Amino acid sequence: MSDFRNAPEAAPPGVPVSSGTPGEQGPRTSGDPVPHARAKGEPRFPEGPKPDPAGSHFERRIRSFQPRRSRVTTGQAEALRRLWPQWGLDIDGQRVIDLAELFGNDHPVVLEIGFGMGEATAQMAAADPDTNIVAVDVHTPGQGNLLNLAEHHGLSNVRVGNGDAIILLREMLAPDSLDGLRVYFPDPWPKKRHHKRRLIQPAFLDLAATRLKPGALVHCATDWEPYAEQMLDVLTAHPEFENTQPGGGFAPRPAHRPLTRFEGQGLDKGHVVNDLLFRRVQR
Ligand SMILES: C[S@@+](CC[C@H](N)C(=O)[O-])C[C@H]1O[C@@H](n2cnc3c(N)ncnc32)[C@H](O)[C@@H]1O
Repeated sequence: MSDFRNAPEAAPPGVPVSSGTPGEQGPRTSGDPVPHARAKGEPRFPEGPKPDPAGSHFERRIRSFQPRRSRVTTGQAEALRRLWPQWGLDIDGQRVIDLAELFGNDHPVVLEIGFGMGEATAQMAAADPDTNIVAVDVHTPGQGNLLNLAEHHGLSNVRVGNGDAIILLREMLAPDSLDGLRVYFPDPWPKKRHHKRRLIQPAFLDLAATRLKPGALVHCATDWEPYAEQMLDVLTAHPEFENTQPGGGFAPRPAHRPLTRFEGQGLDKGHVVNDLLFRRVQR
């Protein structure tokens, strides 16, 4: 059976990165790459994702993610360099993407926002090769992991987006271009003063509705119950979405959604997981 957890690690020569995820690093051995200090302005991954692809071109806004310095393993770094030209997509906000050209076919396209380490994304892509997935995150190690999984499993139906999904939706996707939207375990931002950072709120849904085709499915899941209630409230109140559940409320977890890494952590803490399945209304 295929393993969709950490992608297989290759040991490329001379890669200036850590040799493990935080807290998992063993002692350095002679076979490890020698770290080298990058010169000022030298890109971390010359052929890979840009550090801030949209740069200051777009106004600063409240972000749903926390920029974090992330350790990248040797295998992830190598994937970012080698595989980015084939699977990567920098979200620079500079052009509207032709999705048929991007994937080389006109299969339905689903956007996944916040794929984390990408295991669930890869699993869903492998299980449904006739659906294209644009998977977006700002998390560099996860991008490397998903690239490795894409190569390992030969996933021609995945593209790995680097940057803010809001800029992708607003600047780079045409109206009515998406057949679905997946948001699995978005950052819950539990503190009240941070609630404004939560992704699923009315303004986000206004934008998403314009990019989703009528009938397109919006699938969200969270292990943070107050956020689940908020999602249910804002999706139910939004005129462009209707609940797929006849009586309203949360949906049973669909069999096609794999367990995600964050979900597993939430379950370990005894959290309750809620799925929401809404549809963009047909007019
Ligand atoms: C809590 S993690 C969940 C990851 C994964 N879905 C899982 O369940 O394991 C949320 C992810 O969403 C990403 N994220 C949040 N807001 C984003 C945005 N506006 N654009 C792209 N990625 C975003 C974060 O970087 C983070 O990796």
